[in-house]
Amino acid sequence: MASSDDGGSSAPRDVPGSYGLPLVGAVRDRLDFYYFQGQDKYFESRVERYGSTVVRINVPPGPFMARDPRVVAVLDAKSFPVLFDMDKVEKKDLFTGTYMPSTSLTGGYRVCSYLDPSEPTHTKVKQMLFSLLLSRKDDVIPTFRSNFSALLATVESQLAKSGGKADFNKLNDVTSFDFIGEAYFGVRPSATDLGSGGPTKAAKWLIWQLHPLVTLGLPMVLEEPLLHTFHLPPFLVKGDYRALYKYFSTAAKQALDTAEGLGLSREEACHNLLFATTFNSYGGLKVLFPGLLANVANAGEKLHEKLVAEIRGAVAEAGGKVTLAAVEKMELAKSVVWESLRLDPPVKFQYGHAKKDLLIESHDAVFQVKKGEMLFGYQPCATKDPRVFGDTAKEFVPDRFVGEEGSKLLQYVYWSNGRETENPSVDNKQCPGKNFVVLVGRLFLVELFLRYDTFTAEVATELLGASVVFTAVTKATSGAGS
Ligand code: HEM
Repeated sequence: MASSDDGGSSAPRDVPGSYGLPLVGAVRDRLDFYYFQGQDKYFESRVERYGSTVVRINVPPGPFMARDPRVVAVLDAKSFPVLFDMDKVEKKDLFTGTYMPSTSLTGGYRVCSYLDPSEPTHTKVKQMLFSLLLSRKDDVIPTFRSNFSALLATVESQLAKSGGKADFNKLNDVTSFDFIGEAYFGVRPSATDLGSGGPTKAAKWLIWQLHPLVTLGLPMVLEEPLLHTFHLPPFLVKGDYRALYKYFSTAAKQALDTAEGLGLSREEACHNLLFATTFNSYGGLKVLFPGLLANVANAGEKLHEKLVAEIRGAVAEAGGKVTLAAVEKMELAKSVVWESLRLDPPVKFQYGHAKKDLLIESHDAVFQVKKGEMLFGYQPCATKDPRVFGDTAKEFVPDRFVGEEGSKLLQYVYWSNGRETENPSVDNKQCPGKNFVVLVGRLFLVELFLRYDTFTAEVATELLGASVVFTAVTKATSGAGS
């Protein structure tokens, strides 16, 4: 379904909405966001109240971590892409939004995610990451397969115990950490001095940066002072960071050589590699795979049968091997990955400061915004916009992106901080891991359905996304490739 486009013809309006009283309004809204309404309701209710998908609201955390919680929120598929336009927005120091974690959590550097493309270091670091991913492209499939087949073997042994269940998220945390280290640098973190402690150290370091934005499900009286009012002191996570850094400084020698060639110091490059691997990549996969698995589990046996047929057919055609060419032929699997990224984008918030006075178009109106104002997008509202995705916008439709008609909708898939039809570059802020992520999403389905005809799982929600516990798997009866 195409979006209706009558916004351009109407006269510019002021953005509706309210920030409430200073301080009190922001704290009140923060409580709504975490406890009284929850994220989705928080945004949806304000869209309803003001009859507009572009609204003025406060975003968390507010006092005392954020200097200014006031934003102009863009909450539909049409207005959201203003955040991708580097002529219109500046993306300096706002990766995490209205607050920025201390740079002592990143070796004293402002790492790539916090840099605007106009800053020369942004180009150098992003180029380093493109080179790294390119240089390792032939290693991704075999490394993925060895790590995730071992994960599934563990799932089976856990299920075999009486009344057995297998907690996928726990296994994924350990496996994804090793997989990324091995895929990027050829060295499994667990085989180094880090031992099995890597994922825990990484998770702790992530919490130190993201605690203002999450709720751990503890009583409000504890979480408010502990997580949402002041920064957790960086020195408490220094030892963990140092251990992670040591892994990168030794395992990533080749990537660091490349970085020096691009004009980066080894030290700045290493802190950036740590961040891109541990925050961007590992943090992403921690949420991506459980979300994908949850959607596929809930879709049930009929979808599993179709995926089995497509995946095993393509692998058989490739002589029983999982090759990139075989994976490219799996149209349904690719659509399933995109649909999951559309429905549950792992990174839900995006920000940008207006570079100049702007006009922003929603489906229904044109709004004026002043230079310097903070723009904010809550991605689930944009990628579940019924004006684009119709009556099924909030449902998981596995084959939504299959075929010519389906592919026309890809321009409205925004998970990578850009349209799925566009590509990351040194001049934009689109995720450099875009192709890698869609590839590993498909490899995950390949591994699952070469091995199983079907499976069942219990699905729930946790800190950053879905949690999935396998309850049964039915081993493949025919045609599974190697
Ligand atoms: C940027 C999502 C995986 C590296 C971003 C942004 C998003 C995103 C939304 C833009 C943030 C903003 O500026 O507002 C994701 C998701 C992933 C994922 C959902 C996995 C499921 C990866 C991987 C890499 C990576 C595998 C490895 C290279 C980066 C970097 C940036 C970035 C370095 C900053 C880009 C820039 O400054 O131009 N990612 N990402 N991400 N991502 Fe990813």
